[in-house]
Amino acid sequence: MKHTLHQEFNKIFNKEADNAYFSPGRVNLIGEHIDYNGGLVMPCAITFGTYLLTSPNEEGVFRFRSLNFDDKQDVPLQDGYEKKGDNWFNFPIGVIDHFTKDGHELKGLDMLFYGDIPIGSGLSSSASIEVVTAYALNDLFNSGYSKLDLVKLAKSVENNFIGVNCGIMDQFAVAFGEKNKALMLNCDTLDYQAVDSNLGDYVLAIINTNKPRKLAESKYNERVQECQEALTALQKELDINYLCDIDADTFKKYEHLITDAVVLKRAKHVIEENDRVKLAAVALADNNLAEFGRLMYASHDSLRDLYEVSGVELDAVAEYSKTNPDVAGARMTGAGFGGCAIALVKGDAFEDYSRGVTEYYTKKIGYAPSVYSSLIGNGVGLLSVAVN
Ligand code: GLA
Repeated sequence: MKHTLHQEFNKIFNKEADNAYFSPGRVNLIGEHIDYNGGLVMPCAITFGTYLLTSPNEEGVFRFRSLNFDDKQDVPLQDGYEKKGDNWFNFPIGVIDHFTKDGHELKGLDMLFYGDIPIGSGLSSSASIEVVTAYALNDLFNSGYSKLDLVKLAKSVENNFIGVNCGIMDQFAVAFGEKNKALMLNCDTLDYQAVDSNLGDYVLAIINTNKPRKLAESKYNERVQECQEALTALQKELDINYLCDIDADTFKKYEHLITDAVVLKRAKHVIEENDRVKLAAVALADNNLAEFGRLMYASHDSLRDLYEVSGVELDAVAEYSKTNPDVAGARMTGAGFGGCAIALVKGDAFEDYSRGVTEYYTKKIGYAPSVYSSLIGNGVGLLSVAVN
C-alpha cells in the first residue's frame, strides 16, 4: 500500500513525497457517550487508518488530494480559513486554521491522503484525518506541540470548525493507541493507562452495518445538550462538574431533580455505563471474558433503550451475537445511528460467526454487513521515509 501511495503521489504532483504519516481509526470496547460527561472509556486504535504523504512547495499553497474522493482543493496560505460545504478537506483545513490562529508559521504543502477506514462507519475517520494532519504539520514546521496538545487541537477543530460537539475519546485514542492494548482513559483528568487487551482465545470482530448515517451529527449534539440539562438539574443539590462524578447509587438519591423523562433516561445511561467501565476494567485484568461480554451486552441494551442511539441494524448484530455460543459479548461502538458494532468471538469460530451474522443481518435488514477481524494497532506516527 505504502509503495502504491508513493507512486500515486508521484503521478499527481510530479515529484517524490518527502514524508509519510499514518493515523489509525479506533473502536471503543466500552464506555459509550461517556467522554463528554467526564467519565471512563476504553478505546483501542485499529490497524485501519489514514495515510498522509507530503512534500513542501514554493508556491505558498496547500494542495489537498485524496485517493478516496475526487474532490480536490488548492488553498493559498492566509490568516484564517473557512469551512467549505461538507467536503472531506474541511478536516485538514480546520487543522491548518488552528495552527495559523495559534501563531505558527506554515509554508505551502502538497498533501495526498488515503484512508482504508470505511467512511461514515463510526470508526473515527474524521479524528484520524485531523490527527494525522496535525501530527504532520507539527513535525514538518516544528510547531512544538506535545502529542496531547495535538489531541486537544484536533478535538477543538471538530467542535469549532466542523461543528460536532464531540468529546476527546476519538482523537485521544488515535494519537495514543498502542498495539494490542486498550486505553483506560479518564476523560476528565486525561490520565490514562494502556492495558493489555488480553483477549485470550477471542478476537475482536468489527461489524459494519453499512447503514448510511443520516442526521447523526444533529442527534449527537442533541444528546450532548440533554446531558448538559441533566447536569444542570443535579447541580441544584450536588457539587459536581460532570454526570460521571457520581455513581449509580448516588444517582438514585438525586434523580428526582431531573423532571424531564427523556433527560432522566439519558443521565441514567451515562452514569450506569461509567460504572460498567470500571467493572469491565476489572474483568479484563482478570481475563474474565465472559463477564466482559456480559457488560458489553448490557451497554448495548442501555444505548438502545435509554440513550436511544442504536437502531434496527445495530440491534440485529447484537441479537444474532446473543444466539451464538462462540460470542462472549457484542455491542454498538462509537456514536451510534448506524456505523459499527463489535463482538468478542472465539478465534477459531470467527469464519462461522462472520457467515452467521451476515446471513441473519441480510435476511432482516435487506443488505449485507461487512465483517472484519480487527487488529489493535499503534497510534499516529511517521512512517519510514524509505518506503518508495
Ligand atoms: C463519537 C464522538 C466521541 C464519543 C463517541 C460516543 O465517536 O466523536 O467523542 O462521544 O461518539 O462514545
